[in-house]
Amino acid sequence: KKVVLAYSGGLDTSIILKWLQTEYGCEVVTFTADLGQGEELEPAREKAIMLGIKPENIYIEDLREAFVRDYVNPMFRANTVYEGQYLLGTSIARPLISKRLVEIAEETGADAVAHGATGKGNDQVRFELACYALNPNIKVIAPWRLWDLTSRTRLLEFAEQNQIPVAKDKRGEAPFSVDANLLHTSSEGKVLEDPAEMAPDYVFQRTNNPEDAPDEAQIVEITFDKGDAVAIDGKAVSPAEMLTQLNELGKTHGIGRLDFVENRFVGMKSRGIYETPGGTILLEAHRGIEQITLDSGSGHLKDSLMPRYAELIYNGFWFSPEREMLQAAIDKSQELVSGTVRLKLYKGSVFCVGRWSENSLYSEAHVTFEDDAGAYDQKDAAGFINLNALRLKLLAARKRRLAK
Ligand code: ARG
Ligand code: SIN
Repeated sequence: KKVVLAYSGGLDTSIILKWLQTEYGCEVVTFTADLGQGEELEPAREKAIMLGIKPENIYIEDLREAFVRDYVNPMFRANTVYEGQYLLGTSIARPLISKRLVEIAEETGADAVAHGATGKGNDQVRFELACYALNPNIKVIAPWRLWDLTSRTRLLEFAEQNQIPVAKDKRGEAPFSVDANLLHTSSEGKVLEDPAEMAPDYVFQRTNNPEDAPDEAQIVEITFDKGDAVAIDGKAVSPAEMLTQLNELGKTHGIGRLDFVENRFVGMKSRGIYETPGGTILLEAHRGIEQITLDSGSGHLKDSLMPRYAELIYNGFWFSPEREMLQAAIDKSQELVSGTVRLKLYKGSVFCVGRWSENSLYSEAHVTFEDDAGAYDQKDAAGFINLNALRLKLLAARKRRLAK
């Protein structure tokens, strides 16, 4: 039996690794992805070797470009947010990790994959739906749903018995559960579990406190091509480089913090702290360029599809025909979403303060309050309003009649 484990190199997945070897009796292949979480990955290799993994069974891959190009960017074309505010930083990373897990299982002749998500959360659903969508015969092992290491104490005992090193901060009050990648950092649990209590400052990891951000606003220009950000201040950059640079700007100005209670797919509510510095800038920028390049018909339609699309991503249905159908519609809407926006970054906020495009639909000739030289005949508006009002007038007349 051989299993490919999504391995971060951290304590929990190291315990899972050992548990798969000893209690489950399988040969373990580890897969560690660099999604821009900002951690060195070589320590994960050393740790895996120390835990008895053969060097040829250790997969470490830099997936940052693929992550932004094939997942983050398509999602941002829809201005996607879950329940009005969450930019889906964790949700959108799961399909890519799952895809590589399945591919590595096929390459190494493994019949199963394993992950470290608990039985209470969304991530288990996302990993597993994605894996099954890509390989209907794959087995998924979710140790958190199987083992009896149900308390932190038991977990640490197991680590001790199996010579798994435990970092000092993990012994006592491991503050919370954290997931990080190029798009966001999320923190849940422990001190955050009471949604009435304000999150302590130390929870925030990748943004300055807006109150400490520079007093001077900063201007940045982002250029879009077919809905994707392709250049910053006139300089073309790769998808991952774009998000990296926007993260740096967002961090400085304290942009993209969110304290949020959301509905998990498994039914419960959970409270999380999110930091999405670059993504928050990108969302405002993309809306800015759409303002002048999209007509109201396609714009309003895609806005109405967005919550459904967000829910599919949140619930783990990235690899589903309905997500692909929506993606096709969204991508079609982006064909002429090209041009440049100017943004102002200031103390936790990002404002679009200018936008221009060769594809702009904005017509100053029509909208001007000055003399429009016959571009628009104001007399036309009277009939337009009369016909639109007809139904409302009939309704109002009935209301008056019935009130008598
Ligand atoms: N609640 C967020 C989501 O479902 C974040 C999940 C964080 N995952 C984690 N393993 N720490 O997308
Ligand atoms: C987990 O349960 O592993 C993290 C939280 C989530 O998946 O929603």
